[in-house]
Amino acid sequence: MDLTTIKEMIRIIPDFPKAGISFKDITTVIKDGVALKYIIDEMAERCSDRKIDIIAGPEARSFIIGAPLAYRLGVGFVPIRKPGKLPAETIKREYQLEYGTDAMELHKDAIKPGQNVLIVDDLLATGGTIITAVKLVEELGGNVTGLMFLIELTELGGRRTLSDYDVVSLIQYPY
Ligand code: PRP
Ligand code: MG
Repeated sequence: MDLTTIKEMIRIIPDFPKAGISFKDITTVIKDGVALKYIIDEMAERCSDRKIDIIAGPEARSFIIGAPLAYRLGVGFVPIRKPGKLPAETIKREYQLEYGTDAMELHKDAIKPGQNVLIVDDLLATGGTIITAVKLVEELGGNVTGLMFLIELTELGGRRTLSDYDVVSLIQYPY
């Protein structure tokens, strides 16, 4: 297994969920046990030089990658969720979508001040989702030690939005 093969396994759906969007479908990767293990091991390898106390990731697709990566690194996983899903006391941040706004919440006791937090997601596009996750973690005093993605859409400006952070992606489009 290698990243070229993983990239070939990602299913591209033109015009989903709307015209002009080329959707990167990772379900074709994660249903394959060898491929899933490879991407998690590869991410773990690329984190090996940094201190990570805990992993956090935004609903929903980050959970598929974040939890096995946390298990692999021997740390815990913290979900960042859409409003109303987390049952205990939360902090909340709104963020801009192409049309309108959305919001995400994090349990107040999810991160301890000073903890080194790796934030994970399946895909980096504009960076709007992840910068919101970063701000939630930082509001609790977490130290964001890296941002890890399976896929990066390099032309959508995510790295500019996240320029203060260490961004790692395994697969890039268009290259
Ligand atoms: C997708 C993807 C990332 C985000 C990237 O999530 O899983 O989280 O978009 O886009 P951005 O960099 O422009 O913010 P989506 O909002 O579709 O929700 P899902 O993970 O629940 O499917
Ligand atoms: Mg998502």
